[in-house]
Amino acid sequence: ESAEKGGYAHFTLKEIYEQPKALRDTMTSRIVPGQPIKLDDIHITREMLLHYSRIYIVACGTAYNAGLIGKVAMENLSRIPVEVDVASEFRYRNPLIDNRTLVITISQSGETADTLAVLRDAQTKGARVIAITNVVGSSISREADDVFYTWAGPEIGVASTKAYLTMLVALYAIGIHFAELLDTKTAEELDAIKKELLTLPEKVAEILAHVEKVKDFAQRIHGEKDVFFLGRGLDYQIAVEASLKLKELSYIHSEAYAGGELKHGSIALIEDGISVIAPITQRDLTEKMQSNIKEVVSRGAKVMAVTYAENEDVAKYADEVIYIPSTLDLIAPILAVVPLQLLAYYVALYKGLDVDKPRNLAKSVTVE
Ligand code: G6P
Repeated sequence: ESAEKGGYAHFTLKEIYEQPKALRDTMTSRIVPGQPIKLDDIHITREMLLHYSRIYIVACGTAYNAGLIGKVAMENLSRIPVEVDVASEFRYRNPLIDNRTLVITISQSGETADTLAVLRDAQTKGARVIAITNVVGSSISREADDVFYTWAGPEIGVASTKAYLTMLVALYAIGIHFAELLDTKTAEELDAIKKELLTLPEKVAEILAHVEKVKDFAQRIHGEKDVFFLGRGLDYQIAVEASLKLKELSYIHSEAYAGGELKHGSIALIEDGISVIAPITQRDLTEKMQSNIKEVVSRGAKVMAVTYAENEDVAKYADEVIYIPSTLDLIAPILAVVPLQLLAYYVALYKGLDVDKPRNLAKSVTVE
């Protein structure tokens, strides 16, 4: 087993460090600047897209969290309304599905029972289903009408890391593909996004090469009972996944809040010494997030921010700032989550927990 870990203490850490390669493998030959996105196993035409009234993204766990980002990215790129739901809720709420519905199911394993049930139900009602999955030959990949394989490689750690990042890239690639079919963005705009996506492997590698501050913060918070994540826009969706990662790996109670919701409840829980973690990658929301940070700091919170290189102001309010390489706001969340995966890993490590197999969790949930 230690050979399989390739020198890393845990599969989870190895998989976090494999992310540059996973991203590269997922993008290679599909995303090429100056050329249309190439998705060999997706056969959707402009006519079909014009016929769809909406897209549902349905998944469980971390795959669902990827869907939250996918909704924002896909609506932004293709201007088709997108709804996201957890599979176990979606299947029992009599959703509006017919032949004008496109369903995108996301599943690392391709075997999650609730997600598979949604796929079958949607097809019975006449919808077309695209599957984003990491496992070739999985039930979901075989039954879907179209497939996008995330080439993340086998993921052994129960908490999903590299599969999540590649799911995000899959959703952006499909979004760009739809934008190309529908002419919702200019070729120049899409080219700029493609070029930035292709820089992600290198930028993730850069983040992974400087982890001292993350380790320090993990050391500081590993004894805590509650941690809060705050974010606005796409940073809120990242906060949701970062919070899940911390919860799964470290058993610390953690919750993610949208910055604007702070004053509608969660601020009541902010007291002296509480930790707040804030991804801040959206430039137009930076000022608003900084005022949220001031609000929690004035009540005694200690704050770790993850932000873009040019955002020097935040250091005035936060205790710890992790800078990530600059990129387009639309794709910055893909970078911001990486230090937060590491944070969850190191907190679990400092607590002496079984990082690769957290208690009570299964890698793939094949029964309801
Ligand atoms: C389990 C795993 C999670 C995963 C979820 C969905 O809960 O522990 O890491 O995100 O299932 O799995 P899937 O294979 O459908 O992505």
